Amino acid sequence: MNILLIGSGGREHALAYALSKSPLCSRLFTAPGNPGTQRHGENRPDLAVTDHAAVRAFCEQNGVGLVVVGPEAPLVAGLVDDLSAAGIRAFGPTRAAAQLEGSKGFTKDLCAEYGIPTAAFARFRALEPALAYLREKGAPIVVKADGLAAGKGVTVAETADQAEAAIRALFAEPGTEIVIEECMTGEEASFFALCDGTRAIAIGTAQDHKRVFDGDRGPNTGGMGAYSPATIVTPAIARTVMDTIIAPTLRGMRARGMPFTGILYAGLMLTEAGPKLIEYNTRFGDPEAQVLMPRLASDLVPALLSACDGDLSGVSLEFDEHRAALTVVMAAAGYPGTVVRGSTIRGVAEAEASDAVFVFQAGTRSEGDKLLADGGRVLAVTALGDSVMEAQARAYAAIARIDWPEGFCRRDIGRRAVAREVAGGGI
Ligand code: AMP
Ligand code: GLY
Repeated sequence: MNILLIGSGGREHALAYALSKSPLCSRLFTAPGNPGTQRHGENRPDLAVTDHAAVRAFCEQNGVGLVVVGPEAPLVAGLVDDLSAAGIRAFGPTRAAAQLEGSKGFTKDLCAEYGIPTAAFARFRALEPALAYLREKGAPIVVKADGLAAGKGVTVAETADQAEAAIRALFAEPGTEIVIEECMTGEEASFFALCDGTRAIAIGTAQDHKRVFDGDRGPNTGGMGAYSPATIVTPAIARTVMDTIIAPTLRGMRARGMPFTGILYAGLMLTEAGPKLIEYNTRFGDPEAQVLMPRLASDLVPALLSACDGDLSGVSLEFDEHRAALTVVMAAAGYPGTVVRGSTIRGVAEAEASDAVFVFQAGTRSEGDKLLADGGRVLAVTALGDSVMEAQARAYAAIARIDWPEGFCRRDIGRRAVAREVAGGGI
């Protein structure tokens, strides 16, 4: 069958790699795609993914039997609804179900109704009640914009003054809704479940590194690196997450008449009182997909088709439990602020000389045989290993072969997992 993948980031390059390996995949199109996805199929930058009628027509003309949506924006815009209504299988949640990512308030209300462990919270539409709540609770406290804000709508405030400034800044925009919540402490982990509306199967864990600088300093980003599995999520914790977080979420979404199909990506805080939900995303993570896909031991396509058809019973999606993967994001200088585009990247082929290394491309473009930087996060240099430590060493050795003076990366991706391995835990 022919497959259409939507998106253009490092996540989509990793998905293109996994989808194109499937014996079921005849042709893979990626819209718009990037020079990395082009290596696994055919990019279609001419297809406007915001024009759902055009996407539908493309699928009909090109015999597309499965559409896989990478990023959140097309989900929230209802691409899956419109394709499904036309009888085209599209993997991902409907617009209504994507509210789990698109509206923090929606998710918090669902948690409250179904007893899903999460930070205590309150929702506000006006400044004064929000400030009164802040005075009552004090700091530390967390202030969030309700809608999609690409990770930038969250302030973890150490002081009441910081919280107040964040609240005032958010309400400076008309029509704002905010969530104020308890500040949880613990280690964070990302947990992924493949869902068919009724059932969920756990498909892996990862740890992301959101801050831009070593030692988790500086502003939040889309993610500067990740590794998988997140060994801190023990099998017992994973069962607790499935039972107390994922399963009641699916029940609640069905009860609301918006069954969830797709990838449920739970951002977890592993607190002393057990795992708690920080937030949901309704798609694969970026850069988490870049560490999950290289560890995938099964064919991804039948699992996605079964999820679309609402029947994951009998499906297993196996990941190589004995191999760790680690990815280091190379970003353009200035990221997550303004970056300069157009600098030349050399050495990708040299970095990929080993079978255990994958250089997933994100913000790149090609010009003749040159590869140019064309965004904030530019490359995700990924390596496999028998331990996180080995994967880390390989990833940084690969980075040393990349010649791109205008780029930078964190030097400490996987630090916590490596410390745990040194202290005696394996993967
Ligand atoms: P979010 O966009 O909701 O994932 O939040 C971004 C980051 O803010 C998370 O990865 C956490 O590091 C932090 N964060 C969000 N909510 C909380 C909370 N309730 N307590 C502590 N940290 C939080
Ligand atoms: N790595 C964070 C995200 O994909 O949202």
